[in-house]
Amino acid sequence: MRKLTLTMTAAAFVGSAGLAAADDVEVLHWWTSGGEAAALNVLREDLAGQGIGWQDMPVAGGGGTQAMTVLRARVTAGNAPTAVQMLGFDILDWAAEGALANLNDIAAANNWDEVVPEALQGFATYDGEWVAAPVNVHSTNWVWANAGILEELGIEQPGTWDEFVAAMQAAQDAGYVALAHGGQAWQEATIFDSVVMATGGPDFYQAAMIDLDEEALGSDTMVEVFDRMAVLRGFVDDNFSGRDWNLATAMVINGEAAFQVMGDWAKGEFLNAGQTPGEDFQCFRFPGTQDQVIFNADQFAMFDQGGEVSAQQAALAEAILSPSFQIAFNRVKGSVPARTDLDVSELDACGQQGYVELQAASASGNLFGSFAHGHASPAAVKNAIYDVVTAHFNGEYDSAAAVEELVLAVSIAQ
Ligand code: BGC
Repeated sequence: MRKLTLTMTAAAFVGSAGLAAADDVEVLHWWTSGGEAAALNVLREDLAGQGIGWQDMPVAGGGGTQAMTVLRARVTAGNAPTAVQMLGFDILDWAAEGALANLNDIAAANNWDEVVPEALQGFATYDGEWVAAPVNVHSTNWVWANAGILEELGIEQPGTWDEFVAAMQAAQDAGYVALAHGGQAWQEATIFDSVVMATGGPDFYQAAMIDLDEEALGSDTMVEVFDRMAVLRGFVDDNFSGRDWNLATAMVINGEAAFQVMGDWAKGEFLNAGQTPGEDFQCFRFPGTQDQVIFNADQFAMFDQGGEVSAQQAALAEAILSPSFQIAFNRVKGSVPARTDLDVSELDACGQQGYVELQAASASGNLFGSFAHGHASPAAVKNAIYDVVTAHFNGEYDSAAAVEELVLAVSIAQ
């Protein structure tokens, strides 16, 4: 008993004080669900194979808001972690502060300029320097469905908003939770990505969420977006408040709920539960966004530890973009590879579909950064929109008031 206590105290001390062995990397991330942890293990084991130890610094919370708060505190205290999971504009913000290590040598040696999709390079490079290594490409405009419930109720995969509403109504009438959802701001924002795209189309998404055009933000189309969010709210169960996203996914896995609107990290949960796409669950694009891909890419940025990038940081960056790792990791994570040159036949049906759609969307100008996951606007604007979307979802505003608040919040945050 005594020994156990001492060991645990020592481990806790090493973790919090950053007294990692010189050969270790300390990695700050928010991959804490079952599927996420399984994917993280692929990375950890890859590094262990190279003799590099791992100091884990998990900070739960999808979208990474809490992780970014902890990161800021660590850096302010002069104790930055070695490597940090980051999204889109957060990477650029830290790069602008000069906090990130320059990965150009590793990028050049491994041809990153050629193999990493351009859309990702926009967030992985700053001022001509590679400052992060992309590990995957996720996409938020997906719906996950329990195949058994759909079969039992004779529900076809919905292709339009009206069909989706009818399908959810049928599930609710039969006594199921129609829409599995966790009431957290980032989860509502994740649904908002799809609803904006489906309601207004790609030009509207670009104008409102990326260009932050006041007219688009204050438009009748945006009122309709909020109306649709209210319709979705009507299909959520009474206990949704505060529920973690993976517990909402579990409701679909267990046959308690019919659908979940969530990024493809949800697939990691189905796979982790031993389920197979096409048999136990279905994946399809949020109705009305079949031609679009709303993406977010997890990247690892290496914090400048004073001087050159360390051997451990270099090894981590190199491992992350190696072809074999990209396949092994993304199979488990639910995302698709962050390289354009891979044979993805080892991915499951949803993964293969996602990879093909990503390339097609990129070629046809239909690839857009996710607002909810930090790829449309800097954190200050993103968080301001989160607040309005979540307040409306919880009944604080009607749609017209939400649109007014949205315009105001974005103008103040900019
Ligand atoms: C990340 C995913 C993660 C999800 C839920 C997203 O912001 O990009 O990797 O699985 O949050 O935690």
